[in-house]
Amino acid sequence: DGNNGLGVGALLKETGLVTYDVGFVNTASCKSAITYIDGDEGILRYRGYPIEQLAAGSTFVEVAYLLIYGTLPTSDELGNFEDLIRRHTMLHEDLRAFFNGFPRDAHPMPVLSSAVSALGTFYQDSLDPFDAEQVEISTIRLLAKLPTIAAYAYKKSVGQPFLYPDNSLSLTENFLRMTFGFPAEPYEFDETVVKALDLLFILHADHEQNCSTSTVRLVGSAHANLFNSVSAGIHALSGPLHGGANQAVLSMLGQLHESGEDPKAFMDRVKNKEDGVRLMGFGHRVYKNYDPRAAIIKKAADEILGKLGKNDPLLDIAKQLEEVALADDYFVERRLYPNVDFYTGLIYKAMGFPERMFTVLFALGRLPGWIAQWREMMNDPETKIGRPRQIYIGEPERDYPAS
Ligand code: ACO
Repeated sequence: DGNNGLGVGALLKETGLVTYDVGFVNTASCKSAITYIDGDEGILRYRGYPIEQLAAGSTFVEVAYLLIYGTLPTSDELGNFEDLIRRHTMLHEDLRAFFNGFPRDAHPMPVLSSAVSALGTFYQDSLDPFDAEQVEISTIRLLAKLPTIAAYAYKKSVGQPFLYPDNSLSLTENFLRMTFGFPAEPYEFDETVVKALDLLFILHADHEQNCSTSTVRLVGSAHANLFNSVSAGIHALSGPLHGGANQAVLSMLGQLHESGEDPKAFMDRVKNKEDGVRLMGFGHRVYKNYDPRAAIIKKAADEILGKLGKNDPLLDIAKQLEEVALADDYFVERRLYPNVDFYTGLIYKAMGFPERMFTVLFALGRLPGWIAQWREMMNDPETKIGRPRQIYIGEPERDYPAS
């Protein structure tokens, strides 16, 4: 083993067998009944229901219920669930003050994560991961308060006053009003925006053992409470190779627009791996076919931008890049297709969100998945603390020099 028996050899002696699987490309960390993906066929189902059907007929809150409790709610169950969420949308006044502690130009993702972590300090009555009632109330609190936290992170960044939630509104409406509304002024909803945002939340709601969900599970496997586990997941999501890609796509399209660089020339730079440049919003660890969420979003982008009367030149650039990629051997051989992040930013931009909020919107959508996966793990008798092994490649034993 080249390590005098102290690396691979020692490990093998101790455990019999260790698999070396960088990035867990082939390692299942759990059994799960929540989300099914067939990456070769481009299939995604939540609790058995095809994403296309949920996108066409469901609502985000109904999908949240489905993911967390495993079945579609009856209309009474859905009504009760919505009411419960409405009742918990307010933030403690002391938590409101928390937002003032950040610099005005703080990125909203760490603000979101810190505020979620802080929720645990305000709700010390619901931190026991094995008390079903406490888990239930922390579930509702998170679902209800994350949109308020996200809206406040936005308001803080633009220097506008916070709005209290209006609990006559749906979750998505409430979030839009708290984000774009002003105190004492009626907020006019654009139904196209409400529906589109709800759809985008549905499409992001779960994606089995992705990086942020695996983070939530790993942190939870140490019996950390739900708030802390989700807070860690938000940090994982912020990375540009994961949820942060939606912001990175828009910056990439914006730079191409500004510089006027020919999309083909840009793609040559990507293929030559110049300065490590990647086509952001393309490629996926599991999908080796068109991401079914991207297919729905691409269609929606045309419709929504059309309805909102926004003719964004960046959409044309995105389509040109996709066209070049789908006909290019580099992308075809590596089976690189647009992922969920490729077209979402264009829709968020048309709705009026600044680029820095894009990944926050992803987090709002992904929250029910994180909660469902954390709860499933806590109830699984096979769960053990997550603790990968390593292959030691450092120095063999050596002596500290005598003085
Ligand atoms: N642009 C150019 N080349 C790419 C891209 C891309 N977007 N993605 C993968 N490749 C190439 C790699 O360079 C590599 O080529 P090589 O075999 O010549 O070395 C090959 O395709 C395989 O790529 P890996 O990085 O090994 O694939 P992995 O499964 O580890 O990565 C990932 C998946 C991180 C999504 C990657 O495709 C990527 O970086 N995409 C851009 C970022 C992005 O859009 N992330 C969002 C993912 S979806 C989500 O989280 C919601």
